Amino acid sequence: MKKNIAVIFGDGIGPEVTQQSINVLNTIAKTFNHEFEYSYNLMGADAIDKTGDPLPDETITACLNSDGVLFGAIGHPKYDNDPTAKVRPEQGLLKLRKALQLYANIRPVTTYPSLQHLSPLKSKNIEGVDFIIFRELTGGIYFGKKELNADKSQALDECIYSESEIERVSHLAFQYAMQRRKKLTLVDKANVLETSRLWRRVVQDLADQYREVAVDYMFVDNAAMQIILNPKQFDVILTENMFGDIISDEASVIAGSLGLLPSASIGNGAALFEPIHGSYPQAAGKDIANPLGSVLSAAMLLDHFGLTAEATLIREAVDWTLKHNFVTKDIDPVNYYSTSTIGELLCEYIANKVPGQVHETNMELRKSTII
Ligand code: IPM
Ligand code: MG
Repeated sequence: MKKNIAVIFGDGIGPEVTQQSINVLNTIAKTFNHEFEYSYNLMGADAIDKTGDPLPDETITACLNSDGVLFGAIGHPKYDNDPTAKVRPEQGLLKLRKALQLYANIRPVTTYPSLQHLSPLKSKNIEGVDFIIFRELTGGIYFGKKELNADKSQALDECIYSESEIERVSHLAFQYAMQRRKKLTLVDKANVLETSRLWRRVVQDLADQYREVAVDYMFVDNAAMQIILNPKQFDVILTENMFGDIISDEASVIAGSLGLLPSASIGNGAALFEPIHGSYPQAAGKDIANPLGSVLSAAMLLDHFGLTAEATLIREAVDWTLKHNFVTKDIDPVNYYSTSTIGELLCEYIANKVPGQVHETNMELRKSTII
């Protein structure tokens, strides 16, 4: 299979984690006889520094013409700490989501037995947790009218949703639920917000078309608590843009590290794949960041191409590194491996396919090169 992948390294740790994904994809291509071609594109603080624009037109064109987009991370502290900045890196990502009409952001939350001790939550509560957050991605308060009055003493962010925006992402969430444990939880704030009441009405109407799916409704404040107290109750969570942003970071606590969680953003055309973590500027260039969120996003990209065996092999390789304690600093602050070493181990596993065949001597060598 031949595929064109648009790569956006972005900011902070974006380049180093995305590079591991490219190496992994190249190993997959070699092992399974595929051809992946990459174009490299600018977005975020990196793009502002180089062009003055957080999302140059060429990046939009390259993404629109690609089969899929692999993205690293966005953001830089010099903008975070300057509320008056006219251009911001994040504007690039928001504009790209809109340009590609990526209306659904899919964030799976799974746990790994070898990492359960890392979570501040009790193992018995997180064992076997497996749910997916469907976050609406191109509407709501993120994209409503924004205003700051003349004397800068009052600001406005409007939250707006239309029936059709809610319907398209909800259909997708219901379809996923049908393939899974057939449970969908709509997270909203319908006791206060008009937009949330619209979400409830639309989802209630749609539920008639998916009668096998058990639908329940939960206020976001309660959901924030339930995700920590009893995460096993969830199968598919459907929610609007900002609630989804917040609860998906919260849910990463279950997995043990924010560095582990991948995401897919899909819409009408090319889809985009990115780890849910941010640009982690303190770690940039140090080769210590966790590449697994990005690598697992690359696996979701392969799923999107219909390359299921290939995606499964990547996930198997990830499981294998975790099981053998080949982990980065976020997971084990004492005995840790570098970003690039984890990438190499994943590639070795994939090229050899069977774990027993990965040369023990190489492993021992790696263990002695702990940074
Ligand atoms: C995410 C991020 C983005 C968001 C930021 C970087 C704009 O937090 O993808 O979750 O809020 O959507
Ligand atoms: Mg976020």
